[in-house]
Amino acid sequence: MKISRLYLKIYFYFLAILFLVCFIIIPLIFFLSVDKPYKNLLQKRMGLFVSLMKTSLFKEDLPSAINDIARQAGADVAVYGEGGEVILTSGKHIEPLQSDLMGKVKNTGFYSDITKKRLFFLTTVDKPPYAYMSVSAEAVDVRERRSKFFFWLLVLCVIVSVLVYPLSMTITKPLEKITKKAMQFSRGDFTVFEKKEGKRKSSDEISRLDEAFTHMSGELLRMIEAKKELLSDISHEMGSPLSRMKVSIELIEDKVKESKIPSSEVILALSSDIDDMAKLVKELLDFSKMDLKGYTLDIKQCNLEELVKLCVKSFEPLTGRNNISIEIKKEGDLQNVSIDEEKIARVLQNLLSNAIKYSPQNGVIEVLLKGEKEHFFVSVKDDGPGIGKENGEKIFFVFFREDPSRTRGTGGAGLGLAMARKIIELHGGRIWVENPGEKGAIITFKI
Ligand SMILES: Nc1ncnc2c1ncn2[C@@H]1O[C@H](COP(=O)(O)OP(=O)(O)OP(=O)(O)O)[C@@H](O)[C@H]1O
Ligand SMILES: [Mg+2]
Repeated sequence: MKISRLYLKIYFYFLAILFLVCFIIIPLIFFLSVDKPYKNLLQKRMGLFVSLMKTSLFKEDLPSAINDIARQAGADVAVYGEGGEVILTSGKHIEPLQSDLMGKVKNTGFYSDITKKRLFFLTTVDKPPYAYMSVSAEAVDVRERRSKFFFWLLVLCVIVSVLVYPLSMTITKPLEKITKKAMQFSRGDFTVFEKKEGKRKSSDEISRLDEAFTHMSGELLRMIEAKKELLSDISHEMGSPLSRMKVSIELIEDKVKESKIPSSEVILALSSDIDDMAKLVKELLDFSKMDLKGYTLDIKQCNLEELVKLCVKSFEPLTGRNNISIEIKKEGDLQNVSIDEEKIARVLQNLLSNAIKYSPQNGVIEVLLKGEKEHFFVSVKDDGPGIGKENGEKIFFVFFREDPSRTRGTGGAGLGLAMARKIIELHGGRIWVENPGEKGAIITFKI
């Protein structure tokens, strides 16, 4: 089995912390809280004992003093002679001091005997026969406790180290899975994040990472699909005028072969198809240019009210034909707005042309302008059929038209609103649609 690097890293970090805690921090605490106070107690008692001895006040009652101290200190107390022989003890059988230890006793302090089983606090009294004094703590107790403690600490470390293995696995396994999927994804299997084996319900970072990848792959798939759709839409949009143009050319050819003059209707239809095609190609080109990195707007101060009036005026021939009226309503100051005038005019033209296209005879279109401190709003409201709720977002997609028959009666290519959204978003704004009531549509943008 291949062990992941991340797993090893986590495992070793954990072990390092575990050993630091067990063998440095805990022993230090143990020493400070158990060993040290015990030694201090012995030292204190011994000091008292020696000073009493020196005053020779209680020489006569030395055995009971030794017993007293032994009881209070929880240790055995002994008085040794110069050669290490035991002169007096607190009761238990105490071995004489080894000669090498006697040699070491120059200062008052703690000493261990060779077997390390006993801890001595030795001090000297210069008056014979008490040449050396010692409290021999049966340190076996403390030491035994200490070694038992370390033994169990070691057992604990081993148990924890074994337990850490599956624990680290729970972190690294899902990460490994995600890494594997990401690799598959990078090799072109874009559906890999959609295949869910046993859904993870938790909301930890790893699950969120998995969700983020799933979302990302979903978005990418959506973009790939959109690209495919766009390509097929473009072919379709170009295919229809091209086949119409082919028919017109064939008709003209037939006439020429018969040395006749082709009818002006055929030539006009051909010319109109060429115009449509040229317009579509130009719009597509403009649209794709706006997607390019580094595309910038030509932002200048402009009078929005004037711009709207100009756009409305340009539609007069069309509105006049259907007796449609356009009313402009204004609120707030719109004299100085920072926009790319040409692009916003394009948005307004599309919103107005849509409203006119869908307005009934004698319809009324309202253009509402509202200027606020930092933003302004423009709404175009008509009393046509309105836009289906389910298409509120879709109408801003490239080539989307509510009428699936794609008749040219009401429609252009379905590029206008997609272009409008792109322009508004480039201005840092937003565009949306509302249906005011039973009929009609309001399309608003805010910059
Ligand atoms: N005011 C409106 N009332 C009803 N439907 C609308 C209105 N505005 C837009 N739509 C719907 O949204 C679709 C997309 O509009 P868009 O302006 O993008 O395309 P188009 O007008 O069909 O073509 P183009 O603008 O490229 O000439 C329209 O085909 C229509 O179905
Ligand atoms: Mg349009």
